[in-house]
Amino acid sequence: MFHLTEEHLAVREAARQFAQNELKPGVIERDSKMEYPHDQVRQMAELGFLGMMVPPEYGGGGMDTLSYVIAMEEISKVDSSCSVIMSVNNSLVCWGIEKYGTEEQKQKYLPRLASGEWIGSFCLSEPEAGSDATSQRTTAVDMGDHYLLNGTKNWITSGGKSSLHIVIAQTDPEKGHHGINALLVETSWPGVTVGAKEDKLGIRASDTHTIMYNDVKVPKENRIGKDGFGFKFAMKTLSGGRIGIAAQALGIAAGAYELSVAYAQERETFGKPISKHQAIAFKLADMATEIEAARLLVYRSAVLKDQGLDFDQASSMAKLFASEVAMRHTVEAVQIHGGYGYVKEYHVERLMRDAKITQIYEGTSEVQRIVISRNVLKGDLYVPMPGLAGVV
Ligand code: CAA
Repeated sequence: MFHLTEEHLAVREAARQFAQNELKPGVIERDSKMEYPHDQVRQMAELGFLGMMVPPEYGGGGMDTLSYVIAMEEISKVDSSCSVIMSVNNSLVCWGIEKYGTEEQKQKYLPRLASGEWIGSFCLSEPEAGSDATSQRTTAVDMGDHYLLNGTKNWITSGGKSSLHIVIAQTDPEKGHHGINALLVETSWPGVTVGAKEDKLGIRASDTHTIMYNDVKVPKENRIGKDGFGFKFAMKTLSGGRIGIAAQALGIAAGAYELSVAYAQERETFGKPISKHQAIAFKLADMATEIEAARLLVYRSAVLKDQGLDFDQASSMAKLFASEVAMRHTVEAVQIHGGYGYVKEYHVERLMRDAKITQIYEGTSEVQRIVISRNVLKGDLYVPMPGLAGVV
């Protein structure tokens, strides 16, 4: 089912080499100083990691979602600040435009985003609209040939560095979520202001800001989809985005696991490596098992998407499980490392801090449970396996 081709293995090797050789050396310092990884983002662009799934005719790598999650896992093992920039650019911004944008929008924006000339942000969350995404206070008033955009967005990944925002805003409050639009907003336009930068627990080198829109004129041709499609656009795009965040969580867990296995074989107590103590060996067994289960869910959601099948429930399951595995096992990794685990040099404390956000962004664990339980209660007991649609 998840047969990895030569290309998939090559992507894994390239991402692994890049993460271990280029990201690892400075990752502790960047985290500590909240320093945006300019050089590393440029390198990711050169390696094609910023527009992996964008078709070649728009300047991207034309790869499948499975390649993308494989790369996300390897990069997230080392540096989730870099992988969140990669994830938002690939699966929320590029994929959203590729799937639902007009030909003009694709030609204008995808080559810039895929090449890393521009970085994209996805602007949905507001001070009072996080999980409850229909409660948008940001307004896009229809002025005939353009929308007038006003409002504030919070916790925007790459907010201070991005050149293009996809902004979700309310046009017709009487229509509820059917009155919401998704707009492509260039950050150089008058009225776009970058607000405070967040000082975060984890993914500290990524750039997270409040953004204000004050009478921003957005041409009508920059609306994605027909009038009122914005909420469904956001939901569908987030479904795809959750595959990327699930892969990030998988990578964080796998990174902590790999460090733990190596450490447990080196570190000796009571006359033998701690890996020979059952208390530690059992932890490693649990980590290995749950990480593999998370990987299967992540790969499955990617393959469903690649096969054009419904992936909403699968991506929520993958994100829910992988993020909980990441949280649980990074805590265990710190425990295995003992006192060394509590200091920055050994990396696992950072992985533990980074793991937490995967249970929060692109829909909290509670939101994933809402999505999954609604599907279950509708009668979708299982998501069909790829290739078995209609059989299960
Ligand atoms: N695809 C297409 N349409 C969908 C959909 C999907 N996956 N999910 C819902 N919809 C549609 C529904 O069919 C419904 O349409 P109709 O009324 O026409 O039937 C409409 O959307 C409303 O759906 P719900 O009634 O289910 O909506 P709800 O208000 O109950 O909310 C929710 C459901 C799942 C909680 C949703 O609000 C949600 O996902 N919230 C979380 C938002 C989120 O993920 N935020 C993350 C911010 S972005 C981010 O973190 C990026 C970053 O920087 C890292």
